[in-house]
Formats: sequence, structure tokens, C-alpha cells
Amino acid sequence: MKGVILAGGLGTRMRPLTNVTNKHLLPVYDRPMIFFPLQTLVDAGIRDILIVTGGNSSGDFLRLIGNGSAFGLSYVNYAYQKGEGGIAEALGLAEHFIGGDKVAVVLGDNIFQDNIAPHVRAFERQREGAKILIKKVPDPERFGVASLQGGRVTRIEEKPRRPKSNTIVTGIYLYDSQVFKIIKRLKPSKRGELEITDVNNRYIQQGQMTYGVLKGFWSDCGTFDSLLRSSQLIARQKKRR
Ligand code: G1P
Repeated sequence: MKGVILAGGLGTRMRPLTNVTNKHLLPVYDRPMIFFPLQTLVDAGIRDILIVTGGNSSGDFLRLIGNGSAFGLSYVNYAYQKGEGGIAEALGLAEHFIGGDKVAVVLGDNIFQDNIAPHVRAFERQREGAKILIKKVPDPERFGVASLQGGRVTRIEEKPRRPKSNTIVTGIYLYDSQVFKIIKRLKPSKRGELEITDVNNRYIQQGQMTYGVLKGFWSDCGTFDSLLRSSQLIARQKKRR
């Protein structure tokens, strides 16, 4: 399985921190944010990785990560996303890299405590379709909210005002290569972006979506508060060791 990290966008919700740099280069306690999703993929045994970046300081990813030797990798692939077309558009840029393979996609601002290897192994055995990883959170309205019924996900609503549950879809997605066909048929949402939630709902309609549950802490870093919380979580984890 190949890996893709999505680290583009303009980080408009994080201004002025992102006026001159890319959100995914900001510090989370003692490391640049992008190190965390990269380590998550490497810990899951994925070695063929593409980083999609863009916006401010996109060239700095190359200077920071290079060929990935600090992570035990011998090469890293890079792609460039122009503007802010959304997560699904950014993933579309990985088509040539994925070919007919399966792919583990991680959002560049997501911090996972769990080792996702068991979920990746389970998805390797899944014949086709997709897998998401879900988690209960206190503020579901900030995320894609999942409705579950009889052990299946029946629908995902993107940032609903009145969430139907507090179970949300975290920023790790496992897809088969159909995903690129699905992305090409998407229409931009109200915020003018190609939404990853629309991709996931397509797989749900096709009856090809499974899910796993995260046990350890998980956070995004897309707001000032969640960035602070992520730094505190990492600091605590480090001191405990
Ligand atoms: C994105 C997705 C959302 C998901 C979240 C996880 O939201 O659209 O469904 O729950 O990532 O971090 P964003 O923060 O990019 O708006």
C-alpha cells in the first residue's frame, strides 16, 4: 500500500500564523506538524510516500524532510497543489503515483496516538472499497460526523450544525484505486472545495465502506485551540516516557 500526506491549502483559519508559512510546518510541541502524519504512515509499515503541498513555503517541505532519512526512508515523493481546491482535489494529484494500488491518505494536520498498522493490514485484506477511522469527540460539529447502524456507516455529514452523533471521521482514509474515478465526478461544495466527505459517501452508497475505531488520543491542528491541545498532548506523552 502507498501513502499520501495532504499538506496543501492556505491555512486561512490560522492567520496570522500562516501569513508567511504553511500550516503543516508550524510546531506541535517539539516538532513540525508534518512529522506526525509522516511518522504515522512509517509506523504502519508504509514506505512509498507522496506529500502533496502548496501555498506558502511549499519548497520548505523538501528542505525539512528531504529524502526522509530521519524517518528511515530512502526517498519521498512530492506534488504541488495550486490554490485551495480541497482535500479531494489534493488527493486527485496523487493519481499517477498510486496507479492501481491501494492508498492510505493522512491529513497533514492530524495527530494520532494509535499505531494504525492493524487497520492498514485489515484494509489490505478487504477486497475493494474504503475504510475510515472514527472517534468520539466533544465537538463533532467541527468535523465529518458519522451515522452508524448495525455495524456499518450509513452516512457522513460534513460539519453539521446539529450533529446526529459525537462520532466523527478522523483524517485518515484508506481507499482502493476507484477513488480517482470518484474524485473526477465530484462537484465543489458550498465552500468551493472538493470534499473528502463526498468521496466517502459515494463509497457508502456503493456498500463498500468499512470502519475502524481509534482508541488513543487523536486531534487535528486546524484551529488555535486544537493546535494548543495537540502540543499539550505530545508534551505530556513525552514527559511520561
Ligand atoms: C477535514 C474533513 C472532515 C474531517 C477532518 C479531520 O476537515 O473535511 O470531514 O473530520 O478533516 O481532521 P477540515 O478540517 O479540513 O475542514
